[in-house]
Amino acid sequence: MGAEMNAIDVHGLVKRFGEKTVVNQVSMSVKTGEIVGFLGPNGSGKTTTIRIMCGLLTPDEGDGTVLGFDLRTEALKIKREVGYMTQRFSFYEDLTIAENLAFVARLYQLRPVDAYVTRTLDDLGLSSRRNQLAGTLSGGWKQRLALAACIMHKPKLLLLDEPTAGVDPKARRDFWDEIHRLAADGLTVLVSTHYMDEAERCHRISYISYGTMLATGSVADVVRDAGLVTYVIEGPGLERLAGELRGRPGVEQVAPFGATLHVVGSDPAALKAALADVEKRDGMTIARGETSLEDVFIQFMANATDNMQ
Ligand SMILES: Nc1ncnc2c1ncn2[C@@H]1O[C@H](COP(=O)(O)OP(=O)(O)O)[C@@H](O)[C@H]1O
Ligand SMILES: [Mg+2]
Repeated sequence: MGAEMNAIDVHGLVKRFGEKTVVNQVSMSVKTGEIVGFLGPNGSGKTTTIRIMCGLLTPDEGDGTVLGFDLRTEALKIKREVGYMTQRFSFYEDLTIAENLAFVARLYQLRPVDAYVTRTLDDLGLSSRRNQLAGTLSGGWKQRLALAACIMHKPKLLLLDEPTAGVDPKARRDFWDEIHRLAADGLTVLVSTHYMDEAERCHRISYISYGTMLATGSVADVVRDAGLVTYVIEGPGLERLAGELRGRPGVEQVAPFGATLHVVGSDPAALKAALADVEKRDGMTIARGETSLEDVFIQFMANATDNMQ
């Protein structure tokens, strides 16, 4: 496999469950060593797309390669070289950390089992807890064990499905440090998440909405391409002002942020006109602010809801 080859290169993926198209013409390219975030509302097809990419589901349409292997004809080879962390990972709660990993090592036929387990425990800083029962671990340690289990067979690509859901901020930070360390060693990572701060730790992100890929690029690209204008308002009675502004032409989002109000729109002239009288009020200041990734995602979601009506 050439160094220039993408770890993931898929085109026009379609997956239907019965009458429902849950993945609709999805294409994605991920370079080797890249960390790509996969975002979008619940039920948008992230898990389904990930399962297609690791060879667990066959697409109804579309094709492509994962780690250079054909998605349709070489699923077995893909499965062997991919580490897949499922959305709701589970262990044998009455086995220790080391016993759980030994079980996984045997599944992958890794030999000698003990050597693989010990090395993996060391790599992920789990050695001191090797004899602790998995069922007694905190969320953060369970997640670390799940990561250990899916990198033990030395995969080239990690597909992580909401790996940090329900994990505390410190554990999430540690987890992301680990992801970057693995990527620096050449591992490619596709990770689905709902967290904005995690999206910002990815080299690139892809946003999918109810089966359709809406945006792909760096966080800066995605924010810029969304073409939104944001104003930040400070002053008295913001709560009341928020109610006043909602529904005005040109005002698409109104959200309190601490002691300020963020007002967002996609038509700069209309938004400016909507805020013209506010600027003249006593004690009010209005300034152009930076549009955040969250603003962009809220906009995507609002538009998707409109389209479905
Ligand atoms: N095996 C299945 N059979 C029928 N519908 C499914 C199946 N798996 C997922 N779906 C549906 O497909 C849509 C996308 O689901 P999913 O890929 O899990 O989205 P996400 O991971 O973005 O939340 C949802 O509407 C879900 O109910
Ligand atoms: Mg999912």
